[in-house]
Amino acid sequence: MSAIKIINKIKDMQEFSDRVRANSECLAFVPTMGFLHQGHLALMKKGRELADVVVTSIFVNPTQFGPNEDLASYPRNIERDLELLEKERVDVAFIPDAKDIYPDRFQTYVELKSLPDHLCGLSRPVLFRGVSTIVSKFFNIVKPHIAVFGQKDFQQLLVIKQMVSDLNFDIEIVGVATVREKDGLAMSSRNTYLSPEERINALSLYKSLEKAMEMVGAGVRDSSKIIAQATELINLCPDASIDYIKICDSETLESIDTFDRPAVMALAVKIGTTRLIDNMVLQA
Ligand code: PAF
Repeated sequence: MSAIKIINKIKDMQEFSDRVRANSECLAFVPTMGFLHQGHLALMKKGRELADVVVTSIFVNPTQFGPNEDLASYPRNIERDLELLEKERVDVAFIPDAKDIYPDRFQTYVELKSLPDHLCGLSRPVLFRGVSTIVSKFFNIVKPHIAVFGQKDFQQLLVIKQMVSDLNFDIEIVGVATVREKDGLAMSSRNTYLSPEERINALSLYKSLEKAMEMVGAGVRDSSKIIAQATELINLCPDASIDYIKICDSETLESIDTFDRPAVMALAVKIGTTRLIDNMVLQA
């Protein structure tokens, strides 16, 4: 097992990447907020498969959290993260200081016009502005050829792809399928907040997606019927409160009433105080 290189300073990261590029080596980048789980490790594996050098970032990005969200309590365990990254043979962990990333007079943000006006963007108004800003900053710092993101954050993946296209970043964006626990719960750093009883109820997200797949398989095309079933299933859990359940166009995220084109069913549900998201591409 080779020791992972830790880089904290922006300039050092840029110089490292310049050297990789000067050697004609391919650099893959996996941005994370740490507290890594198997879902993140699948992204690292994909990076390892595609590139000569894999760089990850561990940074809990303050600009993507709203004032009443879990920035302060977001789970952190850098030592454990580094051990996991070493096992995946990740070359560099870029762990910057928030003050260097957002110095006092910072004032430039990257904002998309319409993709954030759906799903999570409605209940978390600063989320995607924060994500597109930090990811574009990281792209300028890490200078990757490839960047890898999870499909669990379906909307985030679309936002990044759109941003890369709109701003002409010369970077290939690779999406990796959601990694699930044995029973189907999508892996998330926030699962750690769940009590044992909430953990059982959290499975209702996956069950409602499975039910939707089953209905689509049986020929149901009316989104409202599928959403009604999912709502019923989730509402069986006393501590669940639904933020949204939507069936939407998998490119624009516009809601669709009749399932007649590539679609994704996406949902966000609070189990107790923990907000979880999940999605599934619906196959006719
Ligand atoms: O998906 C995440 O963990 C974050 O949104 C990201 C992409 C690392 C940006 O902070």
